[in-house]
Amino acid sequence: MIKDILVYPNPILRKISKPVTKFDDKLHKLLDDMNDTMKNSKGVGLAAIQIGTALSVLIINLPVIDENDEDIQKDENLIEAINPKIIYQDGEQISNEGCLSVPAFTTDIKRAKTIKVKYQDRYGKELTMQADDYMAVAWQHEIEHLSGHVFIENLKFAERKKFEKLWKKKQKKKK
Ligand code: CO
Repeated sequence: MIKDILVYPNPILRKISKPVTKFDDKLHKLLDDMNDTMKNSKGVGLAAIQIGTALSVLIINLPVIDENDEDIQKDENLIEAINPKIIYQDGEQISNEGCLSVPAFTTDIKRAKTIKVKYQDRYGKELTMQADDYMAVAWQHEIEHLSGHVFIENLKFAERKKFEKLWKKKQKKKK
């Protein structure tokens, strides 16, 4: 089921997500709803808190280029991560990020280049993954949501101020 995505500065986005202890139908429904919602908005990642559920759950599905040179998302590439934790990080990269909770805005953010992450799948099975480049960015971006943060909080003071000004203007226009 497609859910509404909370938009910055909705205070629910600041909530700290709690660890999942039950790997039951309710969790599976949450994961399926998250995937429907992410696909519907053409996102590449989503944290549960973005649809208002403060549980340590995120999904990532990076597009691949198909034979017609078009970006497509394949269901088999979907990552479902419960209780994820970064256990190692190294290097540095800057890439252009966006977020479904900050629609139609992108900015360059500095992140680790390589990470290792520990998490559980929808059945509670423990997994680890090493991620580099844009996959590492996606993990770091989504994990940040679980601690109540949004990517624009990484901006330097002046850039953040600029963003807030622009965002306020945008929000006003909508009303
Ligand atoms: Co986001």
